[in-house]
Amino acid sequence: MAILVTGGAGYIGSHTVVELQNAGYEVVVLDNLSNSSEKSLQRVEAITGKQVPFYKADILDRDALSEILKKEKIDSCIHFAGLKAVGESVAKPWEYYENNIAGTLTLVDVMRKAGVKNIIFSSSATVYGDPAFIPITEECPKGQCTNPYGWTKSMLEQILSDIQKADPEWNVVLLRYFNPIGAHKSGTIGENPNGIPNNLMPYITQVAVGKLKELNVFGNDYDTHDGTGVRDYIHVVDLARGHVKALKKIEDKSGLNIYNLGTGKGYSVLDIVKNFEEATGVTIPYVIRDRRPGDIATCYSDAGKAEAELGWKAEYGIKEMCADSWKWQSQNPNGYDD
Ligand code: NAD
Ligand code: UD1
Repeated sequence: MAILVTGGAGYIGSHTVVELQNAGYEVVVLDNLSNSSEKSLQRVEAITGKQVPFYKADILDRDALSEILKKEKIDSCIHFAGLKAVGESVAKPWEYYENNIAGTLTLVDVMRKAGVKNIIFSSSATVYGDPAFIPITEECPKGQCTNPYGWTKSMLEQILSDIQKADPEWNVVLLRYFNPIGAHKSGTIGENPNGIPNNLMPYITQVAVGKLKELNVFGNDYDTHDGTGVRDYIHVVDLARGHVKALKKIEDKSGLNIYNLGTGKGYSVLDIVKNFEEATGVTIPYVIRDRRPGDIATCYSDAGKAEAELGWKAEYGIKEMCADSWKWQSQNPNGYDD
């Protein structure tokens, strides 16, 4: 039996395919390559020494999905496919709701018709909005999202939970990621943003490699230890391993489960700059700018539930996250375009 990985050519998907193959799982990848390159999968094959069966297809394409589920012996799906740029989602809400929500509804419909009722879904800490308390446990109420991207995650959590409630044959795991950074130790796969990066770490690595002049630090007047925003950064390899552990809940047929995947530690923007400089020896010039609209002061997890129930805990520290992000960027200054 195989695991269907939608969005498997992307940043988190490609790292998860490595960990799944290393753990002995058969994997089939589906991706429309709208935000990725097939080269990532060739590099995954070089890392694991195993072939990665790949379909260039869209989760909105019912016929293609049915065909894949018929042809491959799919048992479960890890569903990464989706659009994820926060700013773009504000400008193009219809495209985000269509791709992420209609796409997931199509995928889930085809799955249930094929009798495949196991899904792990990529959610985000963004569903907590401005969190009611810190550290954030899974009991923390969901909040108001500040953009359509965040709402697609919040709504899809609700949709998948309702589907599982109506049909208990479904096993659903909702994984709420905190801030994934870092890259595989080989430096051959990593995050490859289109255009100017929105997220902190890819922006820093592009400053480090000389593609961008300086880092803009969005606000130094938050109620945090140095005034800059605090987040829970998690190494993407740890995050990927969390998916392998989450499959246990699917295999145990345990209905609906929700987990935070974070480290439980918060670092400010300036902490990240300092750790990056120490880990790599590269200086990051920065300027303080206004706050970015929609940002919150502090967001970090209590990751105790995943440890207690999945036996999963993040292993890598902030220095390794910085060093591995840098290794990927410095070896691949143009991502997969080289
Ligand atoms: P990514 O863009 O690198 O990967 C997503 C992949 O999905 C891409 O390869 C893209 O080509 C593919 N895709 C998009 N729409 C598709 C469609 N309609 N049909 C088929 N393939 C499609 O992003 P990522 O960082 O690897 O994120 C993976 C998932 O995790 C996303 O759902 C994202 O929203 C979620 N997530 C990411 C973060 C983060 O910081 N990276 C945080 C929380 C949640
Ligand atoms: C953002 C998204 C969130 C998404 C997550 C992962 C917003 C409001 N939230 O989270 O929905 O799930 O990415 O994709 O966009 N920063 C700078 N300068 C920069 C970039 C960032 O100072 O050039 C700061 C931010 O203000 C923040 C921290 O760095 O304090 C982290 O930012 P970022 O990497 O964009 O992640 P989030 O905002 O936490």
